Amino acid sequence: MPRTVPKTTDAALRAGIVATCREMNRIGLNQGTSGNLSHRIPDGLLITPTSLPYERMRPADIVAMAFDGTYKGRHRPSSEWRFHRDILKSRPDVNVVLHTHSTYSTTLSVHERGIPAFHYMVAVAGGTDIRCSAYACFGTQELSERALEALADRTACLLGHHGLIVLADTFEKALWRAVEVETLAKMYVHALAIGEPPRLGEGEMAQVIEQIRRMSYGQAPDLDAVADTPQSRAGSASAKRAAGAKARPAPAAPAARKAAGR
Ligand code: 13P
Repeated sequence: MPRTVPKTTDAALRAGIVATCREMNRIGLNQGTSGNLSHRIPDGLLITPTSLPYERMRPADIVAMAFDGTYKGRHRPSSEWRFHRDILKSRPDVNVVLHTHSTYSTTLSVHERGIPAFHYMVAVAGGTDIRCSAYACFGTQELSERALEALADRTACLLGHHGLIVLADTFEKALWRAVEVETLAKMYVHALAIGEPPRLGEGEMAQVIEQIRRMSYGQAPDLDAVADTPQSRAGSASAKRAAGAKARPAPAAPAARKAAGR
């Protein structure tokens, strides 16, 4: 079943892309003109232009691309449009594709090493490890194919001798997941200084994955999650907050708020 594209305006998505890119650089997750970002639209995607520094990027610079690779805009799309297009086309669970050359993920990727289950948080990428793809030249269809293989049943992978890809349903979640994966990569690089750390077993990781699912771990609190907590009894402060939250429109994601100057 194809995913329903969220009812967000083109302008809000463009602003969200610019804000998320700037946030990636601000928090040190990316640098220079490396990295790129896309968001699903009906029958295609909005994607960052190639080689344009994020501080100069404006919403009007974002390129609109159809799934057949044709595009509209005043710039050429990111050189990595193939993997953005192919991921969004083949993964109905995904709205956002984030690519960065973050330092520690890239450090592991140049050794062609993924991130094993040395820490339970590898499950934030959907499985018991975060794979590293085989190397392929940037901007090629071959890289897209290697990336899709490494992303099977996962929401993140390292790209051999290159960087990191993270998938999510929202900009906010993509940034969150990218920060978590980069932090895991950093911890793994540090742990390797003492020796290869022992790994959690399949059973232990299955328990973590189930716990994440059960607690909706990593999701901003929503009414379902609030209703699952002991404090949500009628009349409690959180229940009143939840009831109030229902009446108000959902707040814009921080990234989108920033881009809109709010
Ligand atoms: P673009 O500027 O073309 O998006 O390239 C940056 C990059 O990271 C290539 O992998």
